Amino acid sequence: MLASPAVSAVPVFPRDPELDAVLDALEARQRAESPAPGAIVERETRRVRIPPGGALPGSSALLERFYGADFFPREKKPMVVDTRRSQGPFMVSVDAAPLSILDACSQIATLTHGFGHPAMVRGLYAGRFDRCLWANPDTAIHHVPELAAYAEALLRLAPPALTHVSFVGAGGAEANEKALRLARLQAPPRADGGPRRRVLAFKDSFHGRTLATLAATWNPEKRAPFEFAGHEAVFCDATLPALERALAEHGDEVYAVLVEPMMAEGGDVHLAREFLLGVCQRVRAARLPLIVDEVQTGFATGGPFFWWQRLGLGGDEGSAPDLLTCAKKAGVGVVLSRWPDPESNQVCVASALRGLIHLETAREQGHVEALLQPRMQALCAAFPGLVSAPRVAGTTCAFDLPDAAAQNAFINQRYQRGFMTYPAGTRTIRFRFSASWEERHLDDLFGRVHEALRRLDDKEALTWVAEGQAPESDDSVVVRGVEEGDWPAIMAIEHEAYEPARRDSEAYLRGAARVGLGLVACDGATGEILGFCFGGPIEHFRGVSGPDQDDRLGRGDSFYSADITVAATARARGVGRTLKRAQVQWARDHLYAFVSGRNRVGATDAMAALNRSFGAFPVARLTHQYEGHAEADYYRIPLGPPPAPPPVASKVLELACGLQQPFGPAPAFMAARELVGPTTSRINLSNYVTVDFVHYAELLQRIAPRGTGHMYVTTSRDETVDKSLRCLRLGRPRGQIAVGLAGGYVGHVTGAARSISDPAGFGPDLALFDWPRLPHPAGPGGPEATVRALDELVDRVGAATILGLYAEVVGERSGLVLRGDGARALADACRRHDIPLVLVETATGGYRAAGGPWGVDTLPDEVVPDAVLWYPGGQLGHIFVGDRYYIKKPLVLISTWDGDELSAIRTHEHLRAARKLDLTAAATALDASLSAAFAAVPGAQLGGLGLYRTVTLPDAELAEAVYQACLHHGLHLGRGLPRTLIAAPALDAGALLGARLRDILTRALPDAPEHQP
Ligand SMILES: Cc1ncc(COP(=O)(O)O)c(C=O)c1O
Repeated sequence: MLASPAVSAVPVFPRDPELDAVLDALEARQRAESPAPGAIVERETRRVRIPPGGALPGSSALLERFYGADFFPREKKPMVVDTRRSQGPFMVSVDAAPLSILDACSQIATLTHGFGHPAMVRGLYAGRFDRCLWANPDTAIHHVPELAAYAEALLRLAPPALTHVSFVGAGGAEANEKALRLARLQAPPRADGGPRRRVLAFKDSFHGRTLATLAATWNPEKRAPFEFAGHEAVFCDATLPALERALAEHGDEVYAVLVEPMMAEGGDVHLAREFLLGVCQRVRAARLPLIVDEVQTGFATGGPFFWWQRLGLGGDEGSAPDLLTCAKKAGVGVVLSRWPDPESNQVCVASALRGLIHLETAREQGHVEALLQPRMQALCAAFPGLVSAPRVAGTTCAFDLPDAAAQNAFINQRYQRGFMTYPAGTRTIRFRFSASWEERHLDDLFGRVHEALRRLDDKEALTWVAEGQAPESDDSVVVRGVEEGDWPAIMAIEHEAYEPARRDSEAYLRGAARVGLGLVACDGATGEILGFCFGGPIEHFRGVSGPDQDDRLGRGDSFYSADITVAATARARGVGRTLKRAQVQWARDHLYAFVSGRNRVGATDAMAALNRSFGAFPVARLTHQYEGHAEADYYRIPLGPPPAPPPVASKVLELACGLQQPFGPAPAFMAARELVGPTTSRINLSNYVTVDFVHYAELLQRIAPRGTGHMYVTTSRDETVDKSLRCLRLGRPRGQIAVGLAGGYVGHVTGAARSISDPAGFGPDLALFDWPRLPHPAGPGGPEATVRALDELVDRVGAATILGLYAEVVGERSGLVLRGDGARALADACRRHDIPLVLVETATGGYRAAGGPWGVDTLPDEVVPDAVLWYPGGQLGHIFVGDRYYIKKPLVLISTWDGDELSAIRTHEHLRAARKLDLTAAATALDASLSAAFAAVPGAQLGGLGLYRTVTLPDAELAEAVYQACLHHGLHLGRGLPRTLIAAPALDAGALLGARLRDILTRALPDAPEHQP
């Protein structure tokens, strides 16, 4: 019979009108400030700009809002990035007089094409992101074609021995965690039957900052504070004799060997082919899995797609690794493996698609290496004794300085000199370029690098010198419509500018002016015609190569820019830009969706850059042009936001994907958001923020859960766990174990998350660390059993050994609810032993508990957590902490990405929308429907809270039968623990949760075979 929870599963949400007013005002202010979708933006394609005194008032004001009252550590770089104005290698701040610098590290090797990747912009407008832009599909539940295509493309490029792909959320560290997990499943049994707990890694390695990968990271300063007894890696020098010794001494304790072919963070240490081949042989002979970490070197960073292949390795069995990991440019964590992954994972599909587009276009980075070689040689020749050990490979280059002091003196000048890069090792300066770097950019950068090297000892080197501030457009240029008397001057300019093959006739231009637009730019003082532009609807140009194959022909929404020309005598006055701006504005005002045009390849670089600055992306390369002698790029400039995806008509009532899609697959409110910048220009939120990210942080500051007032951001569910453990460890240096609850789930990718989660449903070997779980206070023994178990544990290991007790407010897989006396008893026991209480809000946060923004709002006032973890879906996680465990020191708790701006924008909108809903009504309807239907199923037990509910059945077979019967009748439930089904609707699904849900359940339940009388 149905056991109803003793306490209502529909909590009361005491609205706080004062807070509501504050949040309303905040939202109004932010909306007014938000980038408008479709506004015409001019991207930086020309030059570095440094404002007077380096002053960034707009950025500074936003950063102050971001930090709030010490909400985050003060660790961000001083420029707030405007992703819409950043283009190619140019990273631009939001300021009215912006700082525009050359990003010579490509967001720590995250970008293959710099900012505003043209193929991503094209993909956005072609609908490629439609299934994953507005909401993230739950990849652990549904087949996602984008992921399947990505996996297939990766396998085509991978060493033939690697035949499986898994994707994980957070990037490099998590990819390596997954690889370690797969390796551990394969490692041979130890001679004495004990567990293998150690990884073998090399000195100078870097493998990430989650617990298991940090243990395998060499830098003792980074690693030592976070090591766990018995899990310390075995490190050896990168020589074969050292490896042989290490394997002989420790081979029996080790479950995997982890190696980077080029040790990037360690100082761009290029390992030799012979050495790596020897590693393959020695590791294979020891019967251990070999993981090659290509997180920073994959995706054609070194020329060929994988660095391993650059070294001529991987083609045969003897030189193939067992596992190979990528991240950064891959958009998500990627593991290529000989073995299938037994567990499915949740990843951000938009980020995976960005990775796939990087893969498809990775070869376009190929021209960079040849451009780097002579410039690095020249640099060494210019600074003998200062610059040494130049290394160039693919898009990477690096050199050494004499010592750390010189390295610092160089790095400290980055912004003043107008570029961005990072140090590595103890005295290395390294660069990561992308396909967007042309010779002119590299010449500019190397000039700046020369200057920085020249001034290493100059005390004035950090003084800002303004640059690029003079207005480039000439006020005295006037644009007006073409008049009859202008034609002789127009045709004279046309003749002077073009060779006969490219020259347009007067009749052609007159035709364009008649059906579209003809403009001339004149000198305001003399009236002299300085240039002109002509164009009209593409349909008028059906005979022209380019428009003739435009797939928008016939739709009447594209304007073709037929000719835009500036007189030779009027160059460098910004005439072309003024004309283009007027043309784009006119087309937009006349409701065109695109401006298209052609640029002759190699002959019109300035014009192509000008078009790119208005957002042009290439559509097609036209060959045999200009009497067969040349090629042209057919480009398109979008004039509005990407079109909204068509509504998804689903006959199925979806109750499985609510956590990834709190407002379904295509919430209408996302249409109001500018997503082109955040999608096509991924930035490292660990280092930089954007206006949208500041706005999101401002909201979180105002609704941070009880007991907390500070926050860290992460890139996935699991990374949230690992980072929280590192945070607690700094306050509890003797901490060695984390404690979970029976039925608990906090992730299954990282070793730490797996060791807190209940292995039920995963298999007994889930854990990496030997950490205990306590009985759940809502379990059969009640709170007393939990407290007793904690007391016993403390007696055994000592409270100081315990990093924290991890408890979900509602068990995501179990439906067990922390409430009332149980929560009070747990909090009391933690307080008594001085053990941090970490509440996990994944099933309850973001208003889902229906009792406030957080599940903790439904708990007695005395229950005050030390930390709250929330994974809101996509590529984002949050750790809220109270004062006690807040680590204020900058850069201690960062990783490469620290979240994903697109995921943050979505979650921000979810929070805004959820606050305004009547979730109590929805939760009441859900409760009533489930109670009524399952009352007829003997032994069924309802669990969960608010809009996260579960049904636990007497056995797993019945649960599966109910699941299938529901699916058959058009209801998709989620799966939790083997006996538990989940009902996690979209938060705005209230209307469907009453009669519709009840009706389906009433029809479905009698169909479950085990339910037949
Ligand atoms: C070789 C290597 N492995 C792993 C990582 C960790 O990646 P992430 O910061 O994305 O977790 C990095 C990051 O720099 C790396 O360079």
